[in-house]
Amino acid sequence: MKKVLYVASESVPFIKTGGLADVVGSLPKCFPKEHFDVRVIIPKYACMKQQFKDSLRYVTNFYMSMNWRQQYVGIFETEYDGIKFYFIDNEEHFGGDKPYYGMPNDLEKFAFFSKAALSILPVINFRPDIIHCHDWQTGLVPVYLKERFQASDFYRGIKTVMTIHNLKFQGVYDIKTIKSITGLSDYFFTPDKLEMNKDANYLKGGLVYADAITTVSNTYAEEIKTPFYGENLDGLMCARSNSLRGIVNGIDYDEYNPETDSMIAQNYSARTFRKEKVKNKLALQSELGLDVDPKVMMIGIVSRLTDQKGFDLISYMMDEMCQDSIQLVVLGTGDEKYENMFRHFAWKYDKKVSANIYYSEALSHKIYAASDAFLMPSLFEPCGLSQLMSLRYGTVPIVRETGGLKDTVQPYNEFEGTGTGFSFTNYNAHEMLGTIRYAERIFYDRKREWNKIVDRGMAKDYSWGNSAKQYEEMYNWLAGF
Ligand code: ADP
Ligand code: GLC
Repeated sequence: MKKVLYVASESVPFIKTGGLADVVGSLPKCFPKEHFDVRVIIPKYACMKQQFKDSLRYVTNFYMSMNWRQQYVGIFETEYDGIKFYFIDNEEHFGGDKPYYGMPNDLEKFAFFSKAALSILPVINFRPDIIHCHDWQTGLVPVYLKERFQASDFYRGIKTVMTIHNLKFQGVYDIKTIKSITGLSDYFFTPDKLEMNKDANYLKGGLVYADAITTVSNTYAEEIKTPFYGENLDGLMCARSNSLRGIVNGIDYDEYNPETDSMIAQNYSARTFRKEKVKNKLALQSELGLDVDPKVMMIGIVSRLTDQKGFDLISYMMDEMCQDSIQLVVLGTGDEKYENMFRHFAWKYDKKVSANIYYSEALSHKIYAASDAFLMPSLFEPCGLSQLMSLRYGTVPIVRETGGLKDTVQPYNEFEGTGTGFSFTNYNAHEMLGTIRYAERIFYDRKREWNKIVDRGMAKDYSWGNSAKQYEEMYNWLAGF
C-alpha cells in the first residue's frame, strides 16, 4: 500500500475560505483505494460547524516542545467519504472565530501546526511515503522534516511535495521573530534557504526543501518564473524548474452536479438545460428581489473580494455595464472597498444588481445554476475553480487569459464554431467591457450559437480523473514505487 499524507490549513467539508479547501477535500478520494492510503491532517478550528466538531473522535494528546515551552497537541480523527482526517487540537492556536488572523499570529500557529503534523505520525502509527504540503501554512513541514525528524528511522526516506495554490501568500516576517517562533537555527536563515530580502519566508523554506514542487495549472507554472507573477520568488522558481510542474485542478463532480444538486431550484443536464436551466434564474431573481425576467442575461460572480480577482476593472466599469440589459449577482466577502462598491451599485441599480456580502455554500450553487455567464477577470489566477463549476452548470465563463483560466476556458471563435467561453488578454477595463458586450451580443442575437457554447462547456471533463493520475505518477516516481 502506498501511503500519502496531505497537510493543509483547510479542507471541505470541515473548513473553507477558498479553493484550497475544495482541492484538499476532493483530491484524496480520487486515488485507487487498492493501491493508495491517503490521509489528511488539518487544524481543529473552534470555528468549524458544530455538526463537524461533534463528529470527531478524540484519539490522544501529548506535549511537544516548541517556542521554549511545552505545548499541548491533541489529536482527533474522523472518516469522511472513505478518507481518514486527523485534526490537531490546541485551543490557544485554533480557538478563534476564523481560521486566519494575519501576521504574526498565523506564523506562530502554522509553525506549531507543521511541527505537530510531523510529531503525531508515530503516535497515530502512520508512516507516509509522501507528505504532500499545501501553501505557505505548511511550508515548514519539509524544513522541520530535514532539520530534525529525519535523524530518526521512522522519518528517514519520507519524500515531500509542495503545492503552490497561491504564490502571493508566503508567510513573511522579520528573521528575528521567525527564528524565535520556529526554533530553527541561524543555519536556515540565509538567502539560499528561508531568507528573502532580509526577511524570513515559510513558503520559500518549503520550496527549497521539498523534493518536488507543483502548482495548480500549466500556465501558472510558467508565469511564476517571471517577475510579474513571481512575487519575488521567480528566481527560485527558475532555479527549481526541473522539479516544478503544473497539474490543473479538478472539481468534485458529485458535489457539483446540476442533475442531482439539492441546493438548486431545478435540476437539469446537458440534455435538458435549454428548457430547465432558466427556472433557476427565475427562482433566484425572485429570491433576491431582481426583476423577474427569463430573457435578461444574468452574470454571476462568486469570489473572495480581493485585488487578485480583478475587481478594480469591474468597479471601473460598473456604471457602463449597468446601462446594458443585464443583471449582476454577486456573492463574496473580502476587502471592504469591494464589499462597499457592490453594496453601492446594488443600491443604485436595485433591480439589476444584487450584492450578497457573506459566505453561503447554498447561494453559490444557486448562482452557478441560475446565471447565463460567470465573470472572472482575474489579475492572476493559479487555477480557479469557479469557472470549472460554471462550465459544469452550463454557465458561460467570461475570463481574463491568465493562469488556470487560460488553460480551462477556450475562447469562443464564431468562425470556427469552437470555444467554451469568452476571454480577453490584457488587464484592461475596456477590454473586459468589450468582451462582456461581445458575449451579450451572442446571448441576445444568436441564441443557438450561445447554446452551443454551453453544450461544449458542459461536455468538458474537469473532474479529477486526469489530474489525479498525474499526481499518482509523480508520487510513484518520487517514492520509487
Ligand atoms: P480562490 O481559491 O482564489 O478563492 P477558486 O476559484 O479556486 O478561488 O475557489 C473559490 C471557491 O470558493 C469556490 O468553490 C467558490 O464557489 C467558493 N466561494 C468563494 N466565495 C464564496 C462565498 N462568499 N460563498 C460561498 N462560496 C464561495
Ligand atoms: C488558490 C488560487 C486559486 C486556486 C485555488 C485552489 O486559492 O487563488 O486560483 O484554484 O487556490 O488550488
